[in-house]
Amino acid sequence: MTLTITLTQGVGAEITGVDIKALSDGEFQAIHQAFADHGLIFFRDQDTTEADHIAFAERFGDININRFFGAHADYPQIAMVAKEPGDTDNIGGGWHTDHSYDFEPALGSVLVARDLPDSGGDTLFASMYTAYETLDDELKAAIEGRNAVHSGRHIFGEGADTHYNQSDAGKGRIGNAAAAETLADPVHPVVITHPLSGKKALYVNPAFTVSFEGETREQSAPLMSKLFAHVFGGEAFHTRFKWQPGSIAMWDNRSTWHWALNDYQGQRRIMHRITIEGCALN
Ligand code: SIN
Repeated sequence: MTLTITLTQGVGAEITGVDIKALSDGEFQAIHQAFADHGLIFFRDQDTTEADHIAFAERFGDININRFFGAHADYPQIAMVAKEPGDTDNIGGGWHTDHSYDFEPALGSVLVARDLPDSGGDTLFASMYTAYETLDDELKAAIEGRNAVHSGRHIFGEGADTHYNQSDAGKGRIGNAAAAETLADPVHPVVITHPLSGKKALYVNPAFTVSFEGETREQSAPLMSKLFAHVFGGEAFHTRFKWQPGSIAMWDNRSTWHWALNDYQGQRRIMHRITIEGCALN
């Protein structure tokens, strides 16, 4: 087997010719470099147990034990991204990046497909490197040197109107709302210098970014909406990943957004997610 890296349309790279549970140090170095270069890597036809998944993720850093997602019954390191045939709403069903509500946002996540619907359930990804590069000069000037406030409370918190209290995913699949209420809201640069690649990336997202620092939500909305609209419309830097048995995606939370499509009503979709700790962003 020869490790081969093939760019995917829009963002990311597919890596073939490897077995992620039996990587040589050289293969791991190549995978790590591909992850740093592209922010999104895919593998196909991987036959992995939960322990293999954990061992692969641990090569990138410490595992974050998710505070809000239901955990795997035997492996607390694995967060369940689950939807059963009787459920209506999914988890992650809108553009977002994970953990921007933390002071040290997660490096990324490794998502393994365990049980897939017959059709549907693809995941969309967007490159925040290209999002930044393709902003026009006026927008780049408007966000130069600015910071933004992020929060998880309106998504995971206790209020009746939080995202998950409005969703049937909040009835058992997502929980621990009291912990969300204790989170202080971090401030991160709107444009970060990526810790692995040194490249600039746009670092705001529609799920967790609430305002520019020093402004109300209302004051922030016109400029923030322009940034979000730029990414929503940026199909040239999106990719759509079609899951198959044995597929794995690993994304960088600092340089990509993702969106789990919810177009498979009445079917089961079970994914195992491991998230890796990150660092403060500058
Ligand atoms: C997530 O947002 O972490 C879930 C992605 C997916 O289920 O495709």
